[in-house]
Amino acid sequence: MSDVRDPVDQIMAVMENAFDPTFGEAWNRRQVGDALVMGKCHYLLLDKNLHEPDGAGEAAGFTLSRHAADEEELLLIAVLPQYRRRGVATALLRRLVAEARSRAVTRMFLEMRDGNPAEAFYRQHGFLPVGRHRNYYNRGSISGIDAITFALDL
Ligand SMILES: CC(C)(COP(=O)(O)OP(=O)(O)OC[C@H]1O[C@@H](n2cnc3c(N)ncnc32)[C@H](O)[C@@H]1OP(=O)(O)O)[C@@H](O)C(=O)NCCC(=O)NCCS
Repeated sequence: MSDVRDPVDQIMAVMENAFDPTFGEAWNRRQVGDALVMGKCHYLLLDKNLHEPDGAGEAAGFTLSRHAADEEELLLIAVLPQYRRRGVATALLRRLVAEARSRAVTRMFLEMRDGNPAEAFYRQHGFLPVGRHRNYYNRGSISGIDAITFALDL
């Protein structure tokens, strides 16, 4: 039996522990799998030592992004709670920026729930707000939360 883990398993192991379930931001396994077979969707994984996890290794964080023409959308970035504030997301974003540039991308953007503490991370890396969707998050007990679009020129 192979000890090489499916990247979707590694992504899901982070996904299932990184997001506050209140807001429904985490994707399920099918959504991740479908995105990755669509093409133009990319993932990055890093372990707690900022290396790509080897076959059996545990990922500390991941990104999922989608490339269209000269833009890259950062769909998700997440780090396991126990490995936060150690630069994992910073290392992931730097790699993603480098890869995006090699794909001739000139602008990266993302949508973020208003109030997500990740805003400080994005701003620290130069993302600036460029738009707002009012009441974007409306499900269950959550209502009236805006989504903010942030952009970064590469
Ligand atoms: C946002 C997230 C990816 C950051 O990951 P991380 O590996 O802890 O980030 P880094 O260690 O690279 O942080 C770099 C800097 O960003 C800022 N930052 C990161 N997280 C922060 C937070 N929760 N509050 C305030 N500033 C923060 C800080 O300036 C930090 O530098 P410092 O630790 O020296 O102060 C992580 O908190 C996470 O997985 N959150 C849940 C998932 C999520 O909401 N993702 C975003 C929407 S898809």
